[in-house]
Amino acid sequence: MNEERTERAAPELRKSRSPGNPTVLFDEWFREEEEAGTEAPEAATMATASKEGVPSARVVLVKRRDERGVVFFTNYESRKGRELEENPRAAIVFHWRRLERQVRIEGSVVRASAEESDEYFDSRPRDSRLGAWASKQSRRISNRAFLERKFEETKRRFEGRELTRPPYWGGYRIEPERYEFWQGRPHRLHDRLVYTRREESGGKASWLVERLSP
Ligand SMILES: Cc1cc2nc3c(=O)[nH]c(=O)nc-3n(C[C@H](O)[C@H](O)[C@H](O)COP(=O)(O)O)c2cc1C
Repeated sequence: MNEERTERAAPELRKSRSPGNPTVLFDEWFREEEEAGTEAPEAATMATASKEGVPSARVVLVKRRDERGVVFFTNYESRKGRELEENPRAAIVFHWRRLERQVRIEGSVVRASAEESDEYFDSRPRDSRLGAWASKQSRRISNRAFLERKFEETKRRFEGRELTRPPYWGGYRIEPERYEFWQGRPHRLHDRLVYTRREESGGKASWLVERLSP
């Protein structure tokens, strides 16, 4: 691992050369990670908090990235779903070891549209779709056999039938207010650039870019 790391000179992250829009840089880093052969660069740790401010974190897969933010799909009745309904804010962090990078995104959260959730649900393999119907994510269950029985029951119930999206399953979009790009550099003098969203008149936004000490 160390050898692999020292092979590449970590690129510099320059404020003067960074794009005005953080989604451009995020997209660039994401693609570079894919090209470097990273397995599942879309896996990220996503933190929510209850309305009392108690945090919880778990890994999710970010399936969409665009100007409006990042989208992951889940069960709306899971722990994260319940926390997001009562406190619709999240923080998500990608750690990409290969190019020594970290991207942190924070913002408010909204449900993706029904069309967007349907479209993604329909693209999944049948067994994953059955799993979404069979599992009440984050609920306590007595044993593994219970889950397997539920799966078999669900399979029989939907035999020869179309498998549409369960009403309690779908996407959440994190609408970013802050991005932080962290680039590992020699002597622990890492680069950190923060983009903060500023609302402007006419529904427009611009981004303030600042450098932080590592
Ligand atoms: C690599 C990886 C990817 C995952 N992707 C998702 C995902 O996209 N959506 C999801 O609901 N859970 C995903 N999980 C499972 C979550 O980490 C978590 O166990 C589950 O969503 C329940 O979390 P909660 O009880 O906090 O709601 C993934 C787990 C791993 C290890």
